[in-house]
Amino acid sequence: MEFYFAPLEGVTGFTYRNAYNDLFDDVDKYYAPFISPSINDRLKGKEIRDLLPENNNKGINLVPQILANRADYFIKAANQLIELGYDKEINLNAGCPSGTVVSKNKGAGFLKDTEAMDRFFDETFNWLEKKNSEGHNLSISVKTRIGMYEPDEFENILEVYNRYPISQLIVHPRTREQLYKGTPNMEAFKYALENSKNPVCYNGDINTVENYHRIIEKINDDSEMKIGSIMIGRGLIGNPNLVNEIKGGKKLTKKMLEAYHDRLYNDFEKIMKADKHLLFKMKEMWTYMSLNFDDSHKCAKLIRKAQNLYKYNLAVYEIFEKYELK
Ligand SMILES: Cc1cc2nc3c(=O)[nH]c(=O)nc-3n(C[C@H](O)[C@H](O)[C@H](O)COP(=O)(O)O)c2cc1C
Repeated sequence: MEFYFAPLEGVTGFTYRNAYNDLFDDVDKYYAPFISPSINDRLKGKEIRDLLPENNNKGINLVPQILANRADYFIKAANQLIELGYDKEINLNAGCPSGTVVSKNKGAGFLKDTEAMDRFFDETFNWLEKKNSEGHNLSISVKTRIGMYEPDEFENILEVYNRYPISQLIVHPRTREQLYKGTPNMEAFKYALENSKNPVCYNGDINTVENYHRIIEKINDDSEMKIGSIMIGRGLIGNPNLVNEIKGGKKLTKKMLEAYHDRLYNDFEKIMKADKHLLFKMKEMWTYMSLNFDDSHKCAKLIRKAQNLYKYNLAVYEIFEKYELK
């Protein structure tokens, strides 16, 4: 099984990736949070900082992701990414559920119009063929939801994907309407696995070893096809040792989690301009990390209540002193 780190905008940027890579590094690939090309010729400054080689020079196998619904924008950004050295795989985001993204028919909003999708891919894969005939060896993968409103939209969506040599179809089997609620639609995933002409990767709600096995067994029992790759996001932010545990490694300890926490805190502190930004960032980490603890609600509450870094650090100290991992 191959394991991929899911992109989480605002969370898994280069600071986070480098820390995870130094302390754990159990995944085969990291997918970067999306960049969003616009009318401008090139992505600049903050827009591209996360992908600059100087921020990603630790041998991390990183796949950049583009959020676009226009082939010309995608191609423009992809050419810039090739210049930066990303010449193996570039990913298209067809799943972001955010209102501002969907209203522009991007992310999950891209899935609304399968004819427009088809035109997008036709142009993009023509460009890719030409690029590769010039000596490149680039592939395009897609990270997708199963529809905007209803799971039955997926049949038509998959039909479009099947017309193109997508190197990997990463399926988060929820509709945009579902956001992150409810459960992943395993029927729709099974449909993808059995009907996709391209390799399929599963993504969604893998956050413990038990639930990894449950999901994999469900997929493998229900289908003739076997799954070869898994993408994990929130589960890995919460327990950075999760993939190691899935592979049979030792369980996460408080010492490991504390070291990971301290590393993130120190690294974010170096790049954050204000205390409140650091506090916000670390609180976001704890929405996932507190789930490792027996009394996860109390731990989450302690962190939530902290209104400044001093109180935050006291809360963290109390959690690691007094609370036990599940
Ligand atoms: C805060 C947040 C930011 C995200 N940012 C991105 C993103 O930039 N690109 C993307 O394809 N998916 C993004 N996602 C979706 C995740 O990559 C993943 O598909 C989703 O969380 C389901 O997987 P999980 O249950 O393993 O976390 C984001 C999710 C969250 C919660």
